[in-house]
Amino acid sequence: MQSGSFRLSLKFILPVALVWVLLAYAVVPWVDKLTLRWFVRDLDTRSQMLAAALQDPLQEYVPLKSQKKIAELFDRAVQDDRLFALAFCDDNAKLLYKTRTYPQSLGCMDAGWQQTLRQSMVSLPQGSVHVTENPLQADGHYEGKLILVHDTSFIERRSADARKYVLALFAMLAVVMALLTIFIAHLSWRGVISAVKDVLVKDTRPHARHGPHEVAASIQPLAGDLRALLKEYSQDRRVRDDPSRQWTPDKLRTILREELAGDEVLVVSNREPYIHVQTATGLQVNRPASGLVTAVEPVMRACSGTWIAHGGGSGDRAAVDGNDRVKVPPARPSYTLRRVWLSKEEEQGFYYGFANEGLWPLCHIAHVRPVFRSADFDRYVEVNQRFADAVVQEARTDDPVVLVQDYHFALLPRMVREALPKATIITFWHIPWPNPESFGICPWREEILEGLLGSTILGFHTSFHCKNFLETVDRYLETRIEHEASTISYGGKLTQVESYPISIAWPEPEPGAPDVAACRQAVHQELALPENHLLGLGVDRLDYTKGIIERFQAVERMLEDYPALVGKFTLLQIAAPSRSSLDEYQNFEARVRSLAQRINRRFGSGVYVPIILRIAHHNAEEVNRLYRAADVCVVTSLHDGMNLVAKEFIAARDDERGVLVLSQFTGAARELHEALMVNPYHIEQSAEALYRALTMPEIEQRERMRSMRSLVKDFNVYRWAGRMLLDAARLRQRERIMTKIHSHSRASLRRVV
Ligand code: G6P
Repeated sequence: MQSGSFRLSLKFILPVALVWVLLAYAVVPWVDKLTLRWFVRDLDTRSQMLAAALQDPLQEYVPLKSQKKIAELFDRAVQDDRLFALAFCDDNAKLLYKTRTYPQSLGCMDAGWQQTLRQSMVSLPQGSVHVTENPLQADGHYEGKLILVHDTSFIERRSADARKYVLALFAMLAVVMALLTIFIAHLSWRGVISAVKDVLVKDTRPHARHGPHEVAASIQPLAGDLRALLKEYSQDRRVRDDPSRQWTPDKLRTILREELAGDEVLVVSNREPYIHVQTATGLQVNRPASGLVTAVEPVMRACSGTWIAHGGGSGDRAAVDGNDRVKVPPARPSYTLRRVWLSKEEEQGFYYGFANEGLWPLCHIAHVRPVFRSADFDRYVEVNQRFADAVVQEARTDDPVVLVQDYHFALLPRMVREALPKATIITFWHIPWPNPESFGICPWREEILEGLLGSTILGFHTSFHCKNFLETVDRYLETRIEHEASTISYGGKLTQVESYPISIAWPEPEPGAPDVAACRQAVHQELALPENHLLGLGVDRLDYTKGIIERFQAVERMLEDYPALVGKFTLLQIAAPSRSSLDEYQNFEARVRSLAQRINRRFGSGVYVPIILRIAHHNAEEVNRLYRAADVCVVTSLHDGMNLVAKEFIAARDDERGVLVLSQFTGAARELHEALMVNPYHIEQSAEALYRALTMPEIEQRERMRSMRSLVKDFNVYRWAGRMLLDAARLRQRERIMTKIHSHSRASLRRVV
């Protein structure tokens, strides 16, 4: 609304401003010049006529030297209110006669011009006057000259009047132009919008309501992009316009209670939120490095319910009860973790094989070839079924809300749907969804799509991933797609495909927690860095999609280009080991290590190390301290669904300092516009951005950080979950009403029969 009126005022103000600039710099000076020229010409003519009229009496009186007569003649003449003064000079340029008003300073003007008529504007202390010198001839002899002086103040008055009229005229013109601009813009915007709508609302598939002939094939990709853009825009607006901006755990609980009354929540993911490990001193609980867990865990704390996940920790079996359940979080239990056990072969085929050697590289553009093996897919099917069975076992009602997480469980939604047809299944795909061509190389593409279409809601981080998914389904399955509503109808079931950008829980201020200065000092001490040493920070899983190699190359390039930073800047790279039994990950680790060593050899000296590489797991508190100590956080993923490290860094900076360098290929880049955006493949650009970040003035850091903090605070993970649950509640309500209507009409039919 506000931006609408702003645009409207802009449309009004712009033409008006344009006309005023035109007036000030062109029209008014031109009008002044023109009126002056007209009036001077007018005075020239008057002077000539007056001189001609005075010629005869002067010719008579001058030879007689009749002072009185000439004075009378002149006095009569200057009664004309524009003729200011008169004078007569003899042939020796001696002033003989003049009126009292004749300015002394004029004298006899220029002697060299005696014989010819001459007109000019002369500036005097009392103002400017118009002077003409008219030679007086008698019998072909030059007798002297008559000087006529006209007052020109009236020219100034007339010019002022003319200026006033011109201004008034142009002001009217400006208003008319502005109104016309608004009117035409309004008409054409409506025209454009209805034309765009025409293109967008028409489903172009052959089996859809509108035939393919209605939209030219050549504009289909454009129409698709526009559709996605419009959807993203309207969603963004819808969310921003939401009056209840503060999303909290309480609000989430209220939604569950009031919108999904009495219904339970079940989460399914491969990675568990708490891992028990056997150590020499007994059982220890670890938190995994997983964006999924970071986001979903606070939601589960708020909602209670049961989280079903793979029990992969060495101490997991020892921690559960007879039903494979354990209450978590250990310190303040608020929900149940139900563990599912996988054999080595199952883990190998399902997790390492199909999920991480097949789907992971398939969905990320990181130029790593996916590997598909039938045996892996078989394990994938089996494990999905095992987890679906666990869902059915854990469900206390026949219509639970099931939150299915990520690419490990693409088949599970359909499996649960078959067992619990009334369940509300919300599947969230935490990684990007590729375009139809890329996805098409998966030998089990139809099975994957069918599995996912068992979901009530299928969520992605961005509307581009939604668009890719809709197009993939359109390409490989016979379904009915409503692009405007973003729904897919398949086998009589409807799936809503929607974007829900994931986020983090905004941290509560912790009393007694060390401030930024203390964190900075402690971290500098630990790393043996001098006080003013600049610290860059990278926090990732050790994964080839994270752009760690490219980040190191950017550091190297920056040190080459700005040698003054050698010895003054260090990048601390935290890399949590991940999927390390896969060749691809082992090779990647070796490359990362050797590149860090090479750069350190090249630029390091004495105690100075440009890249500190820590391949180890770090807990949330440690990472938070590093976020607070860093000058710059560098996120250079080659492709990333969202990337929560970017959001965590922002949340940690309550001092509103620090700069985020962010890859444009992350979902986060669509929200965090104040980050320094980079294409990680462009090493020089990343090096420049890193340098800019390290030298950014404090005030600019503050402005950028403040804006991003307010966004992440409002668009937190409770909003992410809340929006999905609200959508689910709506769909669930609809489903219940439809079921009632059907059973009612069946009963009526039976009565009639
Ligand atoms: C990504 C995936 C998550 C996964 C995480 C860690 O964020 O989207 O599903 O949990 O990586 O990977 P891992 O294989 O260790 O669970």
